[in-house]
Amino acid sequence: MRRLLLLVPSALSFAAASPLQPRAAADAQQAPFSINDRSTAALTEPVSPKKLHGQFLHITDIHPDPWYVPKGRVSTSCHRKKPRKEREKAGFWGVPYTESCDSPDSLVNLTMKWLDKEWADKLDFVIWTGDSARHDTDNEIPRTAEEIFTLNRRTTAQMEHVFHNSKRKVPIVVSLGNNDMYPHNIMYPGPNEVTHEYADIWKNIVPFDSYSVFLRGAYYSKEIIPDQLAVISLNTLYFYDSNKAVDGCPTKKHSEDPGRLQLNWLEVQLKEYRKRKMQVWIIGHVPPTMGNYYPECYLGYGQLALRFQDTILGHIFGHMNVDHFFWIDAHELHHGVSDPSLLSQLWNKITSFSWSTTLKPRYSLAKTLKNDFRSLPPHKSTDNETEAINYDDYAIVNVGPAIVPAYLPSVRVFTYNVTDWTPSKGALGKDQELLDVEANGAEGDEIFDEDKDDEHDDDDDDDDDDEEFGESEPGKKKGSKRHHGHRHDPDKIDCTLKKNRDLEQCIFKKPRHASKRSPSRRNRLWTPLGYTQFYLPNLDTSNKSHPPHFEVEYMTYPLASLVPPTDYPVPQHLLPQSLKNMSEVPKHISSQYTPYELKDLTISSWIKLARRLGRKKKLFNRFVSFMYLGGEED
Ligand SMILES: *[C@@H]1O[C@H](CO)[C@@H](O)[C@H](O)[C@H]1NC(C)=O
Ligand SMILES: *[C@@H]1O[C@H](CO)[C@@H](O)[C@H](O)[C@H]1NC(C)=O
Ligand SMILES: *[C@@H]1O[C@H](CO)[C@@H](O)[C@H](O)[C@H]1NC(C)=O
Ligand SMILES: *[C@@H]1O[C@H](CO)[C@@H](O)[C@H](O)[C@H]1NC(C)=O
Ligand SMILES: *[C@@H]1O[C@H](CO)[C@@H](O)[C@H](O)[C@H]1NC(C)=O
Repeated sequence: MRRLLLLVPSALSFAAASPLQPRAAADAQQAPFSINDRSTAALTEPVSPKKLHGQFLHITDIHPDPWYVPKGRVSTSCHRKKPRKEREKAGFWGVPYTESCDSPDSLVNLTMKWLDKEWADKLDFVIWTGDSARHDTDNEIPRTAEEIFTLNRRTTAQMEHVFHNSKRKVPIVVSLGNNDMYPHNIMYPGPNEVTHEYADIWKNIVPFDSYSVFLRGAYYSKEIIPDQLAVISLNTLYFYDSNKAVDGCPTKKHSEDPGRLQLNWLEVQLKEYRKRKMQVWIIGHVPPTMGNYYPECYLGYGQLALRFQDTILGHIFGHMNVDHFFWIDAHELHHGVSDPSLLSQLWNKITSFSWSTTLKPRYSLAKTLKNDFRSLPPHKSTDNETEAINYDDYAIVNVGPAIVPAYLPSVRVFTYNVTDWTPSKGALGKDQELLDVEANGAEGDEIFDEDKDDEHDDDDDDDDDDEEFGESEPGKKKGSKRHHGHRHDPDKIDCTLKKNRDLEQCIFKKPRHASKRSPSRRNRLWTPLGYTQFYLPNLDTSNKSHPPHFEVEYMTYPLASLVPPTDYPVPQHLLPQSLKNMSEVPKHISSQYTPYELKDLTISSWIKLARRLGRKKKLFNRFVSFMYLGGEED
């Protein structure tokens, strides 16, 4: 391996000495579609499925590292120098709970094999939120653009090998990550070399008719079920404040900033899908927080998320490696607009999560979320309507943990409602009366007719005897600043009131589309119902002859959903032993794998969970242990 050292001075020597070359060639032979196959139409054009499984996968941050040397020294990014001490040695399948090393090929292969065996035939589509190259952590082997492209090409071939082959065509929707660039984080407006290269790498994934948009900005949308369900894949590099090659979505007229252009494009997409009564998932790599995004990109994204709440099923992102969820809310956006100077101050202080800034503390994410959870307005207010929560004002963002073992490798399988779906009938609203009930009184057609509000029906209190947080817990102070850009301010102006609508703070100058009957708000066709988080808990004790196994880490479902008669959200054989073949709901194991017991993943279910997490200490501690996959928050 000494040969590698020669590479240091010259990135150009990559082609000759890289371990990538032979492997990429091997993959090309193995892959069902050769890399030069130009016949894209068959794969990228949506085909109406005859049957839906009601399940999809979210996989993110694979970070394959072809330079990984098992038994290499962890402090060399696992690239060389075999140490004597056991605990400094790189494991065969990866090193858990460290940011020093990326994913060995063995881990990527094992993951792909498992997905192929257990899931590929059971999924309707795959969401893959980027970062398919190693990190730039090793000064002795700097990354090059060619290596990054080659790794993406290889990983794409592996994904296609599993999901696009002679047996199956499971649509994949992929996004660009901040490490899929050279240098990382930096991406210029397109068309450029990067967009051209990825248009080629993902030619079987990006729909043919999105090609020119993709060349401009590396974002696109894809109809998973034609005329019914779509996924919009964003290029978050144009929003990410570590990308110094862009201007951060300025609102000035005729802005050529790629972030602003992307927001404009997103608005057109959402309008169009809404008009067609379709539902969409929005996905991307870097999640939309004030800490991650340029201020105006964040505001622009948040506005669209809320303005099209009745069309967006949810928001799915990666990048953070930490399993969590958060929300964007109207009051926070109002606040941002009313006091931009506050925002920019905040921006300068906030920790961003880029890998290269490992030394910046991450300690406050869990704490920040707890403060957010604790600062939610009351569920119901008996005598003052304006104080009670209004679910029109929230968008929930789900961040999935990574394959790269920053903590432990992990993937997520979602289920969603397909109960009443048939190939001929599925688009929402076709059978619905158009009824004009605007969330904020502005004009515009509603696609869902109004019905009894079932979001407030259940009792918000759960009766488990969790210890509550003591009153001495540092609660959220009014207007205080938050780390990591999560800042939800209870100091609000109610923009849903007619008299406030024209205030400067009420930035939704355009119609807001929200409905209690949309799938993001109430369980019906397309509503996300839950997910199961799988992980590799035994990574550190496994070795070449004893590979690790994916196991259920937790599920969002009620335990009762695993007791027949039921459509198991997880195949029986993948359930933990204690949950197999249950004939009744056992009380004692309830919280181990199913701590949340969510009946669905609607906005109100998430907010109610957040409120419980803000109140119940034990439950919150479980949540934190899932955030870091059992590891310490570091
Ligand atoms: C991973 O799989 C590829 C084929 O897809 C194979 O060429 C390679 O040797 C495998 N690597 C490991 C470490 O298992
Ligand atoms: C309801 O609460 C709001 C906000 O706290 C307050 O401004 C308003 O005066 C209250 N209305 C009533 C009737 O108490
Ligand atoms: C799906 O939604 C329908 C209402 O449209 C409901 O009757 C059904 O129970 C839901 N299915 C599941 C699995 O929750
Ligand atoms: C591999 O791990 C298993 C189980 O932890 C252990 O029994 C076995 O001795 C290990 N093999 C080697 C070669 O270290
Ligand atoms: C559990 O159920 C599965 C499927 O119904 C069955 O194949 C298996 O034999 C059962 N196992 C036990 C221990 O009852």
